Amino acid sequence: MRPLLKWAGGKRALVKSIIDLFPQDYTERRYHEPFFGGGAVFFHTTPQMGSINDINPRLMNFYRVVRDDSEGLIEEASRYRYDEKEYYMRRDLFNSRGLSDVEYAALLLYLNKTAYNGLYRVNSKGEFNVPFGRYEDPVIVHPRSIRRASRLLRNVDIRCGGFDYILDVADEGDICYLDPPYHPASETANFTDYATKGFDMGDQERLRDVCIELDSRNVLFVLSNSDTEAVRGLYEGEGFHFQSLRTRRMISSKVSSRSSGYDLLITNNR
Ligand SMILES: C[S@@+](CC[C@H](N)C(=O)[O-])C[C@H]1O[C@@H](n2cnc3c(N)ncnc32)[C@H](O)[C@@H]1O
Repeated sequence: MRPLLKWAGGKRALVKSIIDLFPQDYTERRYHEPFFGGGAVFFHTTPQMGSINDINPRLMNFYRVVRDDSEGLIEEASRYRYDEKEYYMRRDLFNSRGLSDVEYAALLLYLNKTAYNGLYRVNSKGEFNVPFGRYEDPVIVHPRSIRRASRLLRNVDIRCGGFDYILDVADEGDICYLDPPYHPASETANFTDYATKGFDMGDQERLRDVCIELDSRNVLFVLSNSDTEAVRGLYEGEGFHFQSLRTRRMISSKVSSRSSGYDLLITNNR
């Protein structure tokens, strides 16, 4: 199925190449996705067991509500209308405190379908600040997809925090797909607005160490990142396999380096 949300860095275009690197019997294995976002790979492969995680609390609240109260979510979000004045009123509500989990989830869905470009961006205070987007009659609630996702998430552990929780849950034979904020192909291409705190080189190094630990436990992983010398340098010499894919759109016209148009998939599955 398609993801429920549009998400920057969403991997719908890469799903087939990523799954090609999974073992044949991947549907029978436990599956973990520590940088979930819109979860394009998860929703495509529909795993029955495992864990999903993201550092964004409003996002993971959304998936928890989808799993545990899909009807409440459908009912609440169905009341919201696509209208510029209403958009800014709901955006203020989303940035306020004291609403219920279902209300925050419905507001996230609404903003995702009506904000400019479907972006999720917060300011330094953590407030969602994307302006109203112009669409031709956008569909805000798709009840069938929400119910399907709810069933799919039934046996999935939904976490919210840093990616290293994976070391507490991943066992031999499990599959892990890691899709961190990309290392910038150039300074102008740096997009780290998913959360208030960005994802720096220290985080990329910690993630590499997590991959080495997963490998030593015989957990199969696939990781995506930008194809840059810095990323290759991090993972070289560990016996992992690299696959470069020319599928990324240019983020900035100023980017001149060859690597800006390429994704790199790294895996220990051989
Ligand atoms: C490239 S996006 C993932 C996109 C996803 N694969 C999809 O198909 O939509 C990266 C995600 O990592 C999350 N993130 C950023 N820093 C993180 C951290 N330290 N631990 C866990 N998640 C983090 C962001 O909130 C963002 O949703």
